[in-house]
Amino acid sequence: MSSTKERVFVTAATGNIGTGIVRSLVKQGIDTTAYVRDEQKSKDLFKKELTTGHLKLVIGSFSSIDVFTKAIKGHTRLFLLYAVHDSKPWSMSQIKESFGRIAFEQGVRQIVDLSSAFVSSYGKKGIIGYAHTAAEEKLWTLADENPEQRSLVVLRPGAFMTNHFMADVHQIKHKNKIVACAPPSSTSTWIDTKDIADCAAVVLSESVEKHDRNVYELGADKLTNEQRAAVFSKVLGKSIKYEQQSMKDFYQTCTSHSMPHSLVYNFAMIASKDICGNATPEIALIIGRPLRTLEDWLKENAKAFQ
Ligand SMILES: NC(=O)c1ccc[n+]([C@@H]2O[C@H](COP(=O)([O-])OP(=O)(O)OC[C@H]3O[C@@H](n4cnc5c(N)ncnc54)[C@H](OP(=O)(O)O)[C@@H]3O)[C@@H](O)[C@H]2O)c1
Repeated sequence: MSSTKERVFVTAATGNIGTGIVRSLVKQGIDTTAYVRDEQKSKDLFKKELTTGHLKLVIGSFSSIDVFTKAIKGHTRLFLLYAVHDSKPWSMSQIKESFGRIAFEQGVRQIVDLSSAFVSSYGKKGIIGYAHTAAEEKLWTLADENPEQRSLVVLRPGAFMTNHFMADVHQIKHKNKIVACAPPSSTSTWIDTKDIADCAAVVLSESVEKHDRNVYELGADKLTNEQRAAVFSKVLGKSIKYEQQSMKDFYQTCTSHSMPHSLVYNFAMIASKDICGNATPEIALIIGRPLRTLEDWLKENAKAFQ
């Protein structure tokens, strides 16, 4: 890190990625602020880190701009993640622009934005691509208003391995199958959220100049659906089959569980085109080790699927 005293502010700090970033920064002795909604949850999550004197909690949300404006003062870096995909597709860009502007105006030198590989592969096509592309555009504009002082780094991950904890886990556990509307041969590129967190923590702890204006795509394991089922069979020690569902059944099942049309339509689109073009082994140059495979991830999480 540079000679100025660095202080890192982490939004969505109790999420999968945020937790990893906070732990990694505190382990390095970097003063870190976790922006959290639920005080008790964060005290339980960061019990060890809170004893080090390097972690501070600020209770706030994306609606409490006043809290954020006051709290961000004195920080030099910001990790920005907005996890809500609601009925307002423009809310992500609005919130990120607002938080990004305040952060830069209060002296933050580097923002690390958690975006999505949808931006590269789909652009504004589909509601998730739209939300992340529009948000990135706003953040690039903000950074370019004062390029000497404002640095932006964008992380664009592919499909999270943790997505298996949502729908797939029940089918795998109780019916020994993975069900989706994509053909068995269609591919997805998977990434462990630990790798995303490690990449963000490296960027947030190295010099601002080194990573300035990089877009880092993150994809570890490009697998067909049949290959993915084979990984589950191997690790769980039982046969897991991939089953293709009709597009119509997929749509009806998801919408009957109150998922909005635009989100379900977006997921249906992925059936014909992976969100991450290719695996990105070059991320090892940043994190100093190879990316973790789906098999690595599943070995650590097998219990949840048994
Ligand atoms: N899933 C994928 O395959 C994939 C792929 C590429 C990109 N992404 C992007 O990754 C992001 C999700 O990351 P993640 O998995 O780390 O999320 P996550 O584990 O679900 O964590 C979400 C975090 O956001 C906080 N949060 C939620 N609503 C909030 C609000 N209104 N105000 C303040 N904080 C709020 C949560 O707080 P609580 O702990 O209090 O709930 C939690 O800390 C999304 O932007 C998504 O588009 C996902």
